[in-house]
Amino acid sequence: MRKILLTMDGIQKCFSSVIALKHVSLQVEQRSIHALVGENGAGKSTLMNILSGIYPHGSYSGSIVFEGQEMRFRKVSDSESRGIVIIHQELALIPELSIQENIFLGHEICRSGVISWDSQIQETQRLLDAVGLKEDPNTACKYLGVGKQQLVEIAKALSKNVKLLIMDEPTAALNDKDSDALLNLILNLRVERWISVIIISNKLDELLKDADRITVLRDGESIETLENDGSISRNHIIRSMVGREMSNLYPERTAKPGELALEVKDWCVFSPSVAGEQIIDRVSFHLHYPARYTRTGNRSGSVPSKTQFPIESPIFRRTARMLG
Ligand SMILES: Nc1ncnc2c1ncn2[C@@H]1O[C@H](COP(=O)(O)OP(=O)(O)O)[C@@H](O)[C@H]1O
Ligand SMILES: [Mg+2]
Repeated sequence: MRKILLTMDGIQKCFSSVIALKHVSLQVEQRSIHALVGENGAGKSTLMNILSGIYPHGSYSGSIVFEGQEMRFRKVSDSESRGIVIIHQELALIPELSIQENIFLGHEICRSGVISWDSQIQETQRLLDAVGLKEDPNTACKYLGVGKQQLVEIAKALSKNVKLLIMDEPTAALNDKDSDALLNLILNLRVERWISVIIISNKLDELLKDADRITVLRDGESIETLENDGSISRNHIIRSMVGREMSNLYPERTAKPGELALEVKDWCVFSPSVAGEQIIDRVSFHLHYPARYTRTGNRSGSVPSKTQFPIESPIFRRTARMLG
């Protein structure tokens, strides 16, 4: 058995009348991949926000012990200085800044009080090699896809000497190939740099392949922690997540849409930043009002006006036909 890196014990957190976490416990071993699973609203992000100092000590009860010492983080930089780094689902890179500027934002490499761009570029190159990203350190992040931006975030975490990396749903927006590459990188970091990773994900097949342990949260409570020794089934985890037997994970639903509100035919979109790059190729779809709306409705059942639709871009207006 590996040594324990982190123990969160009896964590309780309320948002006014909502109890988000009820005496949650979590133990993470050194050099391990620890998965945190649970339905939406189970409390996964709240627990990780506490661990990373986003919710400061005093705003929750319970204790955090990291590398044998009790931690009382007041802000994110407190947890980062101990080697705990969180990567949120909504990536926090600044699109207009280059990769190297993003990586060292807030902890620039300085000589005599002036940013040393040469050192920063050199160091970025070393970090990009470590995460396997073949891009120029001076490329602006807006030119990178989500998969590559994740790698920049990991490179940024490495620049902060991360010991425990927290990733909130890192593969949710990735295709299978990018997800595999990301998970392989995490596995390598564990072996080569002795980094532990807490990964929040509901892609159970990925977790069963790569995680060492899996903790299930349900309705703000820690239900169980499973050793991923090959004996756990997907169904067991799902049952633990939802608290009952699931005979059909995706029950059939009969859709009852209301009137047609919007029709899009052969919609093409080209990149605003890369000349000639097509992002969307001939997409068609119909959008219906909810069944309760009627086109001639009164106050309680009126049709939303055209301006209430969020789709207002000129590109969209060229190809979309608003009805009603
Ligand atoms: N800032 C907040 N204010 C009020 N309630 C919140 C806030 N953040 C989370 N919650 C509530 O806490 C519970 C846990 O949320 P969250 O940690 O985001 O769950 P998960 O990440 O597992 O989907 C939910 O009931 C959610 O509505
Ligand atoms: Mg969440």
